[in-house]
Amino acid sequence: MPICSVFIATSLDGFIARPDGSLDWLDDANTTVPAGTELGYEPFMRTIDVLVIGRNTYDKVLTFGAWPYGSKRVVVLTRRPITIDPALADRVSASAEDPAALWARLGAEGAQRVYVDGGVTIQRFLAAGLIDNLTITVIPVVLGAGIPLFGPTGRDVALTLFDVTHYPFGFVQLRYRVTRPDR
Ligand SMILES: NC(=O)c1ccc[n+]([C@@H]2O[C@H](COP(=O)([O-])OP(=O)(O)OC[C@H]3O[C@@H](n4cnc5c(N)ncnc54)[C@H](OP(=O)(O)O)[C@@H]3O)[C@@H](O)[C@H]2O)c1
Repeated sequence: MPICSVFIATSLDGFIARPDGSLDWLDDANTTVPAGTELGYEPFMRTIDVLVIGRNTYDKVLTFGAWPYGSKRVVVLTRRPITIDPALADRVSASAEDPAALWARLGAEGAQRVYVDGGVTIQRFLAAGLIDNLTITVIPVVLGAGIPLFGPTGRDVALTLFDVTHYPFGFVQLRYRVTRPDR
């Protein structure tokens, strides 16, 4: 069955976007990253078969102009009507399956590594016990309010820290495995 990973940037106070979804703080922080610095995103993406993203993340990504996921297969979780650009229809689909059902289907379809993205979506996969590892890049800013990475889980989620990288420009990248004896 597929391994599910999170790879995300947060403010020090745990927000992935401002309340209105804005990522200007992240764009500003990224201007401090020296050209050519590798934060691990590209190697991570090379391991991924399928992205599962929430509707809000999808809507935000569409404002970027260029589609950022190349030829990767993307499943957008939503219960609302959605329009998918015909140019992306060969690789982007929508679903309202619950995390366990989607995970099982992707596994049956041969997916091995799934990238789960979007706050609510990550929270639902985490609560369902389906996240295997998280790479969290902490940006040195306190936003005070915003869209949180984490929310109610229904139970504690124990983590094993297996790597920390501190960058000279102030980012800290934390890499965790979810501690789960059952898998
Ligand atoms: N800092 C970063 O690295 C980073 C990374 C990713 C995203 N972001 C930002 O985070 C914000 C989005 O996060 P978010 O927490 O608002 O939400 P999200 O997870 O992107 O989207 C949440 C929505 O996805 C749909 N959804 C999720 N699970 C579902 C399921 N099992 N079945 C059906 N629909 C499901 C629901 O939409 P419906 O209303 O259609 O039911 C839900 O309201 C954006 O601003 C984005 O830019 C930041």
